[in-house]
Amino acid sequence: MSNKPLTWLSCVQCGKVYGRNERIYACPDCGGLLDVTHDLAALRQRGVSLELFDQRLGGFERWERSGVWRFHELVAPEIPTTDLVTRGEGNTTLYDVVGDLASYVGHQRLQLKHEGENPTGSFKDRGMATGTTQAKHLGARAVICASTGNTSASMASFARLSGLIGIVAFPAGKVALGKVAQAVAYGAICVEVRGDFDQAQRLVLQAAEELPVYVLNSVNPYRLEGQKTIMFEMLQQRRWHVPDWVVVPGGNLGNSSSFGKAFQELYEMGLIDRKPRIAIVQAEGASPLYRSYQENFAPLKPMKAETIATAIRIGNPTNFAKAVRALKSTDGLVVQVSDQAIMDAKAKIDAAGIGCEPASAASVAGVKVLIENGYILPQQEVVAVLTGHLLKDPTNVIEYHSGSLANIYPTFANRIQQIDADLKQLAFIIGESPTLS
Ligand code: F0G
Repeated sequence: MSNKPLTWLSCVQCGKVYGRNERIYACPDCGGLLDVTHDLAALRQRGVSLELFDQRLGGFERWERSGVWRFHELVAPEIPTTDLVTRGEGNTTLYDVVGDLASYVGHQRLQLKHEGENPTGSFKDRGMATGTTQAKHLGARAVICASTGNTSASMASFARLSGLIGIVAFPAGKVALGKVAQAVAYGAICVEVRGDFDQAQRLVLQAAEELPVYVLNSVNPYRLEGQKTIMFEMLQQRRWHVPDWVVVPGGNLGNSSSFGKAFQELYEMGLIDRKPRIAIVQAEGASPLYRSYQENFAPLKPMKAETIATAIRIGNPTNFAKAVRALKSTDGLVVQVSDQAIMDAKAKIDAAGIGCEPASAASVAGVKVLIENGYILPQQEVVAVLTGHLLKDPTNVIEYHSGSLANIYPTFANRIQQIDADLKQLAFIIGESPTLS
């Protein structure tokens, strides 16, 4: 067997190549983003196949049962399986959308990949499985991230699990309750930055230059290797049958970038014969990618971001260049949706018994827009990604249904009714319910 590496880092801008264990987050030469690049031909020669991944579904090893590490060879082939950090992440449900939710969206061939079913309630667990594995591999002691909430919740958990110190930086007052609670509970050093996410992100990158900390934001390309597996697993659940569209919310643009890479790799290896089109959905008040897309991919103009979906309240997305690459390589597109559309779609997803946090509902609101405007055709198969769990943001749920959210109309409110401990009053409420009459 040759000693040629299977994995290295390469700059997406200038193509320069670096060793896989260099502790860098950008190309030292030109400042471009870095990819984790694998020797796909060599991996194919070593027997990587869809059958191999399918066999592992019946495996007993902890790493085989992880929805990330089941795809070990396409994620971190040079790390021994004994060194993989895992909480059994992934293995999330792919729901068929039926009934009232299908009617609301206006499409009968929609599936929802619910990444909120991960151990800490968001897709970030996939990227943290790989990120903390790499951190341990490099001998790091402390890991750090800026976060709108989910990254910090996930990193705090994976750091503790793998014996690392976790340090999280939030935008003060702009993180949903469930997420702050998790980071605190999992024992991370928690810092509220007086500023927005983009400022917190800049601070963390400065810290990486001065302090002995390893950054686990999605600027770290090892994070994206884990997030690729959302798409590997989705395809596996569909018996490797490629959908026509994949729809995903876009904030810092790590997920969408990783999806593009996942499809490109499978395609180059001949494991799939076509790629789905990727549609990225942004909130109207946090839509720098949408604005660039509207002007034929004009250079990124950072903006001051504002949206009820705090997870995607990002005006200067780190992975802009990679997301543009993903869109170009899949003939993708970008749409924006209002906060009202996000909260109404969320109420419908919740009431279908599935549930998600506001940012996740952007994907479904986006599907609705794409259908109404004729981009998605009735016969086309669509997979939308739900990125986070309903309980991440309980405040917005209660305020929507009680009609107390500023500038949002509670279109599908399910109001709580208070009564005395009196059977007549209870009977009256039940009698009033259209679902029982
Ligand atoms: N949905 C949820 C629930 C998120 O938490 C995030 C990002 C996104 C969508 C956007 O994903 O950045 O890959 O485009 N949350 C990050 C965080 C920024 O800090 O938790 P993206």
